[in-house]
Amino acid sequence: MKFRNFSEREYDHETGWRINPDAGENEPERKFPYIDNGTGLIDAGRYHDPGFAQAEWERLWARVWLIAGRASDIPNVGDWFRFDIGNQSVIVVRADDGIRAFHNVCHHRGNRLVMADFGHGEHFTCAFHSWQWNIDGSLNRITDRDTFRDAIVCDEPPLSPVALDQWGGFVFINLDPAPSQHLTDYLGALPAQLAPFHFEDMVVVKDVETRWPANWKVALDAFLESYHVHSIHAEILPFYDDYHQQWDLLENGMSRMLMEFATVSPRLEDQETINDGLKMMLADAGMDPDAFTGTAGQVRKAIQQHKVPAYAKAGKWFDGLTENQATDDWAYFIFPNVTLNIHPEGFLFQRFRPDPRDPERFVYDVQVILQPVDDAKPPVYMGVEDGTDCSGRTRPERQHIRHGEPGLGFVLEQDSMLVPVVQQGLRSRAFKGMRFSEQEQRLRHFHRELDRYIAGEK
Ligand code: FES
Ligand SMILES: [Fe+2]
Repeated sequence: MKFRNFSEREYDHETGWRINPDAGENEPERKFPYIDNGTGLIDAGRYHDPGFAQAEWERLWARVWLIAGRASDIPNVGDWFRFDIGNQSVIVVRADDGIRAFHNVCHHRGNRLVMADFGHGEHFTCAFHSWQWNIDGSLNRITDRDTFRDAIVCDEPPLSPVALDQWGGFVFINLDPAPSQHLTDYLGALPAQLAPFHFEDMVVVKDVETRWPANWKVALDAFLESYHVHSIHAEILPFYDDYHQQWDLLENGMSRMLMEFATVSPRLEDQETINDGLKMMLADAGMDPDAFTGTAGQVRKAIQQHKVPAYAKAGKWFDGLTENQATDDWAYFIFPNVTLNIHPEGFLFQRFRPDPRDPERFVYDVQVILQPVDDAKPPVYMGVEDGTDCSGRTRPERQHIRHGEPGLGFVLEQDSMLVPVVQQGLRSRAFKGMRFSEQEQRLRHFHRELDRYIAGEK
């Protein structure tokens, strides 16, 4: 493997790499202007200090827009799902007039109303003393009401609403009753950039929740860069350029990373042979790898030229996507805790939620969300098992797996082994702080935005 001299020019942080040097100013592949977030080290305390976690809770989690789930998971009136963040729990339910969110708490003695991940019903009935609410949040019953003195229940307490908005099939909630920004302003340029993928049509085909012994940011950081790929995921280098990537920093801490697939990593010596990884990519695209006569460097374009008309013919191609998007991975970060790895067929959704009791633990949610088609072939690293129903007819159960158990797919399992060890390293008295390269500029951008929340500037 090569560690130097594999690029035609030195990296320049102002210019960066471009996935398409010819992209015009209004085109999806345009390079965004560099944002200088400085060169300071990032202190390790934020990854384990309970005081920092508490500040995050009060100044970030309780105030920011968060993706709670997918609207397609609650298609019918009465369908609901539960979303927990820190020590708060929220019910998201489809009522007659649309989707609503409520705090998951009974106004009698504070019991949680629902415990399951998903459910359906006309009411929410508390399991403790059977108080009951309608799905629009209005109170339906106080059991033995005549035994309450009137002053205690005369407000007929409705469920407490949670601010809610939607974009791209995602349901966002905000624990702040009066969010400081509308969701549209918060998301900035993202909806326009991602509109051609038609997220709103996509459905969940895989859903895993697991808990890792690490701070949520240690894991998120790892998914905001590809600098570690050559070391941790070397298996994918035969069909993935881990170096020449377009890193774009966007507003509100968000960012993107455009990555070439079906290209041999420049770190590998053999740039000519149609290796097994490229063969897999050709076959994935519906081409015969043995009939392919070009060189390795021609595979990406060949797949694009095959896929675009094939998708158009099958009615699966969408206006506004570029040829490169037929092969590449467009990785977006939605501040503060969601990453998307986007392909025309769908995307990998990863969400990082803090443990309310221990800053050195977090909940890791992974979902694969696809256009509902019978013969979907998501990229292999998404870890969708053969035979999975991708038609949208059945919503898979959420799998709850233990850290280290199989079920994430081999790439994410490699990360799951790495991240807790980094967490341990961060406790070292000798560690001076994180030194980010320009390949890690999305991490710095994220941490600078987090700093603004912690400082009360946002
Ligand atoms: S705590 Fe819910 S009915 Fe008593
Ligand atoms: Fe990784």
